[in-house]
Amino acid sequence: MTDLTVEDAAQLFVNPSSYTDETTLEAALALLREKAPVVRVEHPSYRPFWAVTKYADIIEVLRNHELWLNEPRSILQTIELDDALDAMRDTGVGLRNLVHIDGACHRALRTIGAEWFRPKVMRSLKHRIDELAAHYVDFMAQTGPECEFVGDVATAYPGYVILSLLGLAESDFPRLIGWTQELFGLDDDERRRGQRSEDAVAVMADFVEYFRALIAERRTNPTGDIASAIANARIDGELLSDMEVVSYYQVIASAGHDTTKAVIAGGLLALIENPGELERLRGDLTLMPTAVEEIIRWSTPVKTFVRTASRDTVIRGVSIGAGESVCLSYPSANRNGDVFTEPSRFDVGPEPNRHLGFGSGVHFCLGAALARMEVDTFSSQLIPRLTAIEVVGEPKFSPTTFVGGLKHLPLRYAMC
Ligand code: HEM
Repeated sequence: MTDLTVEDAAQLFVNPSSYTDETTLEAALALLREKAPVVRVEHPSYRPFWAVTKYADIIEVLRNHELWLNEPRSILQTIELDDALDAMRDTGVGLRNLVHIDGACHRALRTIGAEWFRPKVMRSLKHRIDELAAHYVDFMAQTGPECEFVGDVATAYPGYVILSLLGLAESDFPRLIGWTQELFGLDDDERRRGQRSEDAVAVMADFVEYFRALIAERRTNPTGDIASAIANARIDGELLSDMEVVSYYQVIASAGHDTTKAVIAGGLLALIENPGELERLRGDLTLMPTAVEEIIRWSTPVKTFVRTASRDTVIRGVSIGAGESVCLSYPSANRNGDVFTEPSRFDVGPEPNRHLGFGSGVHFCLGAALARMEVDTFSSQLIPRLTAIEVVGEPKFSPTTFVGGLKHLPLRYAMC
């Protein structure tokens, strides 16, 4: 690692496998924070961009939403995929959701969903979340002493929460969650549908077809869930277009799944690797809220988002022209020693914990209260019942440039 150059380190952003080796990743991000906190990245498959790795710069960009726009590109993806998705939008069936939109239009759309994600409304889902958490904790007890935690538990639990939130039939789980896995697994041979950008477009098309049918149903027979509220919402007296509704459903379904799955699995691995912290939490479950925040900081499943400068500007002395993009590194912000006293120590009790795992500013994660409740509920049920737990194979992380985390976590355990 001592030979790593800034140029090599900067390439991590365009190399999905960077996120499969946390030790090397952290060394590269630490080098960039120290030597080149705003660094230009060029690669033939990607439009050039500036990678930003320091917490203070990232939060400044996220909060200054008039200077830094989500349009035209908010996600780091290859030129080929960008172009294919743009072409899909040009035909009128492209997805354009909250993360792609700025200004008044974003505000109006976000307000529709925000009502439903307020902690008070989330509490009405609590009973269902308790039930699902109990089901998967019992499942672990019954099928133990071993399981592949990601495939057997961490994938299904948040998946069924999303189905309940949207008011969808449980029988739709394989389809909906399968597409989400394919969408976030575009860089992963084990998960993607195929190698070509047309395969990614085909996944989007599946979402569109499925959700279009749902809109028609919810407009005819509203069922009092968030899917009905979005289908029947009006802005300036007009119903949203079908593609606006489909895009809304799609962002809820996909943003809420892989992220939460990665946090639940990443949190359990962190507790196993830090047995003192596991014991501390087991001995005092009132620490759960701070433990949940630390688990989110530690696992940071959203690796990057992109913003584009609306005018010439400067970050940390580096000039950035209007129309140029910055790629914000959330894992780097969450390990930045300027903000966290001991960033490489997993500690279930720190307060405050100003991590950027949910972002910041006007695009702050809409589902944060739900995600916190899911992680808290599951951990509160599992941890008191665990009497022993160990990892019995190599934990594997998914290759990605966007959202990811553990994809295999083989465990052996004893439960009461
Ligand atoms: C621990 C799990 C989760 C993490 C770490 C996470 C993280 C994030 C991050 C980093 C952003 C972008 C923030 C920014 O641009 O500053 C975001 C946006 C978003 N998240 Fe989450 N998320 C999680 C769970 C969820 C859940 C459960 C849902 C809904 C079911 C959800 C829905 C959304 C939506 C709709 C947006 C777009 C908001 C906007 O652009 O206005 N997320 N999330």
